[in-house]
Amino acid sequence: MQSALFFLYPLLCIHALHRCLPEKKNLKFYKTRSCYKSTIPIMSWKNANNVSDCMKFAAEKNGLAFNFSPNELKNYTQGRWFRNCQVLGCPEIRNSSTLVFDAAFDYYTAFGDFNSTQNSTCIKSVGLFSVIETKMNYTDAIYFCQNLGADLANVLSEFRTNTLSALIKPLKNWYKAAYVGLEDMDVEGAFRTPMGTLMECSGFRAWAVGHPRPGRKKEDCVILDADKTWRAINCRIKRPFICEFYPTPPALPVVEFATKDCDKIKNKKKKRQCLNNNELVQLYMNSSRMDQCALVNDFD
Ligand SMILES: *[C@@H]1O[C@H](CO)[C@@H](O)[C@H](O)[C@H]1NC(C)=O
Ligand SMILES: *[C@@H]1O[C@H](CO)[C@@H](O)[C@H](O)[C@H]1NC(C)=O
Ligand SMILES: *[C@@H]1O[C@H](CO)[C@@H](O)[C@H](O)[C@H]1NC(C)=O
Ligand SMILES: *[C@@H]1O[C@H](CO)[C@@H](O)[C@H](O)[C@H]1NC(C)=O
Ligand SMILES: *[C@@H]1O[C@H](CO)[C@@H](O)[C@H](O)[C@H]1NC(C)=O
Ligand SMILES: *[C@@H]1O[C@H](CO)[C@@H](O)[C@H](O)[C@H]1NC(C)=O
Ligand SMILES: *[C@@H]1O[C@H](CO)[C@@H](O)[C@H](O)[C@H]1NC(C)=O
Repeated sequence: MQSALFFLYPLLCIHALHRCLPEKKNLKFYKTRSCYKSTIPIMSWKNANNVSDCMKFAAEKNGLAFNFSPNELKNYTQGRWFRNCQVLGCPEIRNSSTLVFDAAFDYYTAFGDFNSTQNSTCIKSVGLFSVIETKMNYTDAIYFCQNLGADLANVLSEFRTNTLSALIKPLKNWYKAAYVGLEDMDVEGAFRTPMGTLMECSGFRAWAVGHPRPGRKKEDCVILDADKTWRAINCRIKRPFICEFYPTPPALPVVEFATKDCDKIKNKKKKRQCLNNNELVQLYMNSSRMDQCALVNDFD
């Protein structure tokens, strides 16, 4: 027994530690438009050697998107002078009317699936959210969010609690409150986010006075109200809720101009198609950037 515990103890510690690691946003960025840049306000900027350098910088600065101008496109900057890595606190959503043609730039975003995020609200450097006014119980709210490509919103920071609370203010209900991603259904008192991070890992609390109420073991789910406070309530109660979108790659693959090995393809029709595509790729590779921009945008 003792020896078993001896072996288990380090494991338990690692487990506990692991659950308290900061929810580091290892955000991935995807090129969703070539030859375009976003005119959303720039949050940070620098000269980057290459796109991976710019991606790293964008992640460090808590950007959600960036414009990048590869060094080899210096000819297309038409004498304009700028830093080639421009980090944006919010990505393009809805109809992307703030994307403008600029042959010197490409646009990258952590939220590539415009279709699912088109009605969302951006909180700068944090993410994309949707307040759903339809009242649902906690489990139905989770399913609803997941169908949107989202989950209930994480509120485990003062900034998140305050900014998300502001999104609740316009609710039409007289009692302005919405479910967020914090619950202790599994272990009483051990509130967790949808990512599994324990509330204990964060020094921040926004409980309303007396919450979570002792002795109310069924009050396992958390609502955030317009006064920036959390209340534990019974998960069966129907309330509006806030979804937080997952970062996602583009729904449709971005046109990637790379030649494929067509020899492996047996189907004659598909082989011809592949060869034709390769020809197109070569044409693209041999083209000037301006012609490349025209080609790419024909495909978008
Ligand atoms: C990109 O730039 C960084 C920073 O200068 C450098 O360390 C890295 O090797 C470069 N990566 C590529 C793929 O060129
Ligand atoms: C860019 O400009 C330089 C001279 O300024 C020229 O030698 C080079 O061929 C140009 N590159 C492209 C891709 O047009
Ligand atoms: C795009 O959205 C903006 C702001 O919501 C609107 O003014 C504009 O008319 C829209 N453009 C298109 C093409 O739908
Ligand atoms: C966008 O969403 C609509 C409905 O939400 C769906 O019918 C359509 O197929 C989606 N388009 C893409 C490109 O995913
Ligand atoms: C966004 O809102 C419009 C208008 O209310 C609606 O038609 C569309 O289905 C919504 N899209 C998503 C992905 O929720
Ligand atoms: C929420 O409602 C659904 C039916 O719409 C039910 O199956 C589920 O058990 C309910 N969840 C809770 C936590 O009450
Ligand atoms: C592209 O250029 C290469 C040589 O640089 C040439 O062999 C090839 O035929 C060209 N392809 C097209 C489609 O122009």
